[in-house]
Amino acid sequence: MLKGRHLIDPMDFTTYELDEIFSLAEKIIEDEDRFKDACRGKLLATLFYEPSTRTRFSFEAAMLRLGGSVIGFSEPNSSSVAKGESIRDTIRTISCYADIAVMRHPKEGAPKLASMYSSIPVINAGDGGHQHPTQTLTDLLTIKCLKGQFSNLTIGLCGDLKFGRTVHSLIKAMSRYENNRFILISPKELRVPDYIRKEVLDKKGIEYVEVEKLEEVIGELDILYMTRIQRERFFNEEEYLRLKDSYILDMEKVNRAKEDMIIMHPLPRVNEIDYEVDEDKRACYFKQAKYGMYVRMALIMKLLGVEENA
Ligand code: NCD
Repeated sequence: MLKGRHLIDPMDFTTYELDEIFSLAEKIIEDEDRFKDACRGKLLATLFYEPSTRTRFSFEAAMLRLGGSVIGFSEPNSSSVAKGESIRDTIRTISCYADIAVMRHPKEGAPKLASMYSSIPVINAGDGGHQHPTQTLTDLLTIKCLKGQFSNLTIGLCGDLKFGRTVHSLIKAMSRYENNRFILISPKELRVPDYIRKEVLDKKGIEYVEVEKLEEVIGELDILYMTRIQRERFFNEEEYLRLKDSYILDMEKVNRAKEDMIIMHPLPRVNEIDYEVDEDKRACYFKQAKYGMYVRMALIMKLLGVEENA
């Protein structure tokens, strides 16, 4: 039962519960019109303490397409946050007005803290360099629809694996399915954090390798998940400038990949995928952004306990 629950970490839901969300998302994709009043009278609050395009707009579009309404801020200085209000008090207040809340915050753990003082479901829309569970729902629905399976896949994750929260959440989620293998492609300085290596990959005995060159491994991959170098999480601008163009995916590299490999990216891209790649049939990142809206529609309905045929 997902009604009334929070989504803070990608492991908060069982794989069975995730399947429920994906099958609802697929029904919505098939016949969106049937759901246009599903959340009539319900209110979503978006609390964005950090910039966002896809996550915030896709949540807002999701709620509006379900017939619900949206309130919130995309710039914390326009709310009482600027006066020094705590997360705890902000969420207690928002709980009085809205039915469900989505929070993005630069501090790791902030949405978790909010969920402890909230009487409505809280969804983590990204907390610092930590987790991003709704991007993971997006990524999983994309994989389900385009690859048709969650198991037996060789997944290449490329770019900033240290600060990229979408990567951390996706590794956690895909580690639950059988026989997946990870190829972690990054400069030495931007390897996945120890806790992901030790507590997720090593603990579960999952096969993985860490490499620096994308062109050497691209031919083995079923999925290539590109990420941007996370400038805002660097302590030192020089280090960012040195690493920022570590990977640029162009057609020369894509031509070495399997015909049915899919290229994913949570977006925004900065420079890491050449525009020429967009025309290749393997490029799926804009489709992925669209799946993000559908999966959020399904998530909102499930957490609000809205009946499918309402
Ligand atoms: C990602 C994020 O915010 O972590 N963006 C998103 O939500 N699609 C990826 C990123 O910012 O690089």
